[in-house]
Amino acid sequence: MSISELPQGTVTLLKSGQVISSVSGAVKELIENSLDAGATSIEIRLEDFGFTKLEVKDNGHGVDKTQVPSMVQPHTTSKIREFSDLVMVDSYGFRGEALAALCSVAKLKIRTKTGNDLVASTFTFGPDYTVQNIESQAGQNGTIVTATELFYNLPVRKNFYKDHSRRKEEMRKVEKLVQSFSIINPSVRFSLFHNKVNIFGKIPCDNISKSSVAVLGHSCKTGMVEYYFVFDPSTCEVEEISLENYESSNDQILVYMMVPKKTLGMSTEYGRTNTEKTFTFVNKRPVELKQVEKVLRSAFSEAAGLEVEKNPVAVVSIIVGRSQRQSLDANLEPNKQKISLGCLNDLMEKTDQFLKNKYKEGDDKLKEPDTGHFEYEKDNNAQNDTATNYVKDAESNSNEEITNKMKDITEELQESKSLFSPGKGTNFL
Ligand SMILES: Nc1ncnc2c1ncn2[C@@H]1O[C@H](COP(=O)(O)OP(=O)(O)OP(=O)(O)O)[C@@H](O)[C@H]1O
Ligand SMILES: [Mg+2]
Repeated sequence: MSISELPQGTVTLLKSGQVISSVSGAVKELIENSLDAGATSIEIRLEDFGFTKLEVKDNGHGVDKTQVPSMVQPHTTSKIREFSDLVMVDSYGFRGEALAALCSVAKLKIRTKTGNDLVASTFTFGPDYTVQNIESQAGQNGTIVTATELFYNLPVRKNFYKDHSRRKEEMRKVEKLVQSFSIINPSVRFSLFHNKVNIFGKIPCDNISKSSVAVLGHSCKTGMVEYYFVFDPSTCEVEEISLENYESSNDQILVYMMVPKKTLGMSTEYGRTNTEKTFTFVNKRPVELKQVEKVLRSAFSEAAGLEVEKNPVAVVSIIVGRSQRQSLDANLEPNKQKISLGCLNDLMEKTDQFLKNKYKEGDDKLKEPDTGHFEYEKDNNAQNDTATNYVKDAESNSNEEITNKMKDITEELQESKSLFSPGKGTNFL
């Protein structure tokens, strides 16, 4: 075949199908936009696993009516002006691609209202990014993006997701995503609905400790421990810190970790065969970092004396100081879920040592009553501050430990069988 230029529509579909390759990918992009717009409340509603309809509603700053048509044009963004801005970008978005891609693979509507508008405006877009209709109605400040008939024009992908187990798998990813953003954005309220049923919720709270407990479950207050340390990439030195006395430094990397305590039941309670309950963040971005997962798995399994390694329930947040940003690349993949960090290998080596030392220190505590030094023990009302409605319901009874163990065992048994079983983590349908 001779070389010839592809028609524009084909180019668009090829590119868009990479940026928005799944329901979870679409939800991720829309949540990121809401967070970038300063939202403190984000509601995600899916119908038929998001394939019939997916909608993200926020209370962010909204978009001026005159700007809305530009929102969905390819390569239009309010977040960077040139490539060099990428190094210091603090927003989740920067490519100006997400809405354009979504508009190419679904039917798209955007309703928005800024503080200066008297009414909200709803824009309906055609596949070629053109505005097909504009309506005005009463509404709150913020933005609602609604995508229906996802992948209607990508028959192969649509067929791929006809399989029920794939749809459920996709739903698991959406859940994990919303949980991830909930942990790393403590002050933001999140709720996730599927077919009008609330399957996840988190109310605003003060800090990552509280948001982690709200998402992972109340038993973490006693069963898990948290550490902060700083890593200096120039010397590869690690220093454990307490956050109250920490003065942030642009040259350092700050690491927060919440990991299971060394206890006799740690493997049953906090060990998992997959990484569904391992949450990793780099500069507040939920990422997949195999290196982090490996370190956690190895330290946890060694501490628990496991022959076959397991992944712990864990939260790891890595904050890269501004002068180290040159070595951080968030633009590695179209979905921005992988990053590269120059000093990652050194950082992971030190994290491995740090964690293993901590677990060794925990050896002599094994026979003692489990008092721990988790800050929540000072805060008896923390559950009221943070927990989600079903977390409260499921875990505020006097048999909390037994309830949680039962849940974990049920989860192990039903893993890969059922997404919506009552034993699945903290979520019930
Ligand atoms: N929920 C929202 N509230 C306010 N403004 C929004 C919202 N969603 C999108 N925008 C505006 O529309 C623009 C385009 O959004 P889009 O997601 O396509 O690109 P981006 O976020 O700039 O970059 P990326 O493609 O990396 O996500 C944004 O830069 C922002 O100005
Ligand atoms: Mg975006």
